[in-house]
Amino acid sequence: MELGDKVVYQIYPKSFYDSNDDGIGDIKGITMKLEYLSGHGIDLIWLNPFFVSPQNDNGYDIADYYEIDKTFGTMKDVEELIAKASGYGIGLMFDMVLNHTSTEHEWFKKALSGDQYYKDFYFFKKGEGANPPTNWESKYGGSCWEYVEEFDEYYLHLFDKTQADLNWDNPDVRKEMANIVNFWIDKGVKGFRFDVINLISKDSFEDDFEGVGKRFYTDGINVGPYLHELGERSFNRYDDIMTVGEMSATSIEKCTYYTNPENKILGTTFNFHHLKVDYQNNEKWTLAQFDFHELKQLFHSWQTGMQENNGWSALFYNCHDQPRAISRFGDDKNYPYESATMLATSIHLQRGTPYIYYGEEIGMTNNYFETIEQYRDVESLNYYEIMKRQGIKENKIIEILQAKSRDNGRSPMQWDDGLNSGFSRVKPWLEINKNYKSVNQETAINSGDSIYHYYRKLIALRKKSDLIQNGSYQPLLENHDSVYAYKRCDSQGELIVLCNFYGEKSVVDIDLTDYRIILGNYASSSVLQDHTMQEFETVVLLKNHG
Ligand code: NOJ
Repeated sequence: MELGDKVVYQIYPKSFYDSNDDGIGDIKGITMKLEYLSGHGIDLIWLNPFFVSPQNDNGYDIADYYEIDKTFGTMKDVEELIAKASGYGIGLMFDMVLNHTSTEHEWFKKALSGDQYYKDFYFFKKGEGANPPTNWESKYGGSCWEYVEEFDEYYLHLFDKTQADLNWDNPDVRKEMANIVNFWIDKGVKGFRFDVINLISKDSFEDDFEGVGKRFYTDGINVGPYLHELGERSFNRYDDIMTVGEMSATSIEKCTYYTNPENKILGTTFNFHHLKVDYQNNEKWTLAQFDFHELKQLFHSWQTGMQENNGWSALFYNCHDQPRAISRFGDDKNYPYESATMLATSIHLQRGTPYIYYGEEIGMTNNYFETIEQYRDVESLNYYEIMKRQGIKENKIIEILQAKSRDNGRSPMQWDDGLNSGFSRVKPWLEINKNYKSVNQETAINSGDSIYHYYRKLIALRKKSDLIQNGSYQPLLENHDSVYAYKRCDSQGELIVLCNFYGEKSVVDIDLTDYRIILGNYASSSVLQDHTMQEFETVVLLKNHG
């Protein structure tokens, strides 16, 4: 399947649009906004999980893969969304959380009742004396083993204790996984995002004396074979289904292996290395300026590494697990338009398939909550307690959460400057960002030179340019201290993308003879005259061959 011409828009259903006045976004709400969505020129909409779930991890704890959680609507609503979106030429991409189930899932309940067939769907293991089977830490803090007294055994949960890891080494589990995917293919779904899918093969269960256990269960030996098998039974039997695997702590080598079409594993992968450049000593819950050189180096090495071995990347800064990029790598107070459009350009014109996360196209920022009561996310709440136990002061913890919490990327879509920003007629499940009076979709659409209209231009550019869709990637200005730059080439021409990541002017020493500007975020640019770039300026320049 052609991937370079696609653009995906991600919706966090809980926060998009509330059609039934309960303060929570729903499926019908998305259907009601299809016209707006189609205006972007997108091809697919990825929806975060809306299946039956106790919602301990906002739907990433699934209790029934075949039913819709009533908070979000009904199967009829989902069928209607698929049909109506298809009328706009948009496919739906569903989120498959297949590494673990909720402990409320009937398989887990049967396992807990002692049914050995279902116990083998999970990892139940004896402890080591008074200790759990291994010393691995859960991604949300604490041990990743939970004790079950009746069996005097522990079960594995790499995430919350209500998210039990499935045992993919069991062929019956793999059959069930294919059944789930096929069920949704039969409903007309055109894409799948596979949650933390490089964790499905646990290589060995042993204590980790170098880290927190990751190396024993990340990119395990059978990830490729198991996904290939899943694909052969389901999505790879069709040529119009797009897949993307979310890869935790992965490598370029693994991602090229997963996405090289010859291996028939996945279409694309998400990796997160570029989103750790503001971690101090590799630790998320810290405050640090982002390391620009590291960011550039990661972009360059992933782009060239993936292309060398015919891999394909998903391009993104924002998603439901990340703070908003405009607040993180840009300047959401002094240069919101310039930094949002610069960031969009920096990523959209790379080689791969770009993703837009709801609200990004109108410049939604971090929500800067001031008290812990405003937070909802399980990871943020767990780490709040952990940081307190570490003796970190309350105001410091809040400052860290304001920069790092996943709730920053989950606040309700800002539709207009009215009640609850037009998201709901009642109090929303998570507070609306205070800046909704100025940052909202209505204002963005009505202003000719808004972030929204810039995104549309960027997407339109990709759609009509084979060079952007398929051209090669080449790093430029690798040692520049404030500008990230690259070239895309094919037999027809060359495209240069220049992005000034800072709120200060910058000079670029680069030969731009015969190039003309085809897109930029300043009304006029002096880059062709004196090689100067303005604050957070971005320019895209094209030179045609012959
Ligand atoms: C990754 C998802 O993106 C995240 O939101 C979730 O909490 C974990 N996987 C566990 O499913």
